[in-house]
Amino acid sequence: MPTGPQIILTLKVLVTAVTVLLAVALWAIASGRKKLHGRLNTAFFLLTLTTVVAFEALLRFGVDVKATFTEEQRRALLVHLCFAVPSALLLLVMLPSGVRKYKRLHLACGAVFLIAWVGTFVTGVFFLPHAG
Ligand code: HEM
Repeated sequence: MPTGPQIILTLKVLVTAVTVLLAVALWAIASGRKKLHGRLNTAFFLLTLTTVVAFEALLRFGVDVKATFTEEQRRALLVHLCFAVPSALLLLVMLPSGVRKYKRLHLACGAVFLIAWVGTFVTGVFFLPHAG
């Protein structure tokens, strides 16, 4: 079984990697490359949802949370999940609204999603203590 610091470091790498993907997808739509935006964000969607589901499953069924993480880490993880889970739920609206070209819905949810994602990134990369 992985240790707490290993799990947290892996999470940081994954959150950083998908954020780079999202940033490039936003640059793509800002410069009019709609198809590229769609493709990059489809990859972002699959990677992010897989990470959130795998991570939730690991915490619920895979490891003994109390024995694996310090109290400080548990508190920081909870705060992180308060942003990551809503972000993942909003993605379930973002992908279909993009594919079906419901532009107003896509942009309105996009604004809320971006706020939730900034929270996910900051709490996931900067505020999670990964030293045991
Ligand atoms: C967060 C900020 C985002 C903004 C501002 C944004 C903006 C846009 C805009 C303006 C379009 C063109 C819509 C049209 O002309 O009808 C579009 C298309 C699309 N978006 Fe987004 N989007 C964002 C995030 C996302 C996310 C997170 C996903 C997927 C999870 C996504 C998936 C798509 C897809 C699949 C399309 C259709 C591309 C195509 O026509 O080939 N977008 N987006």
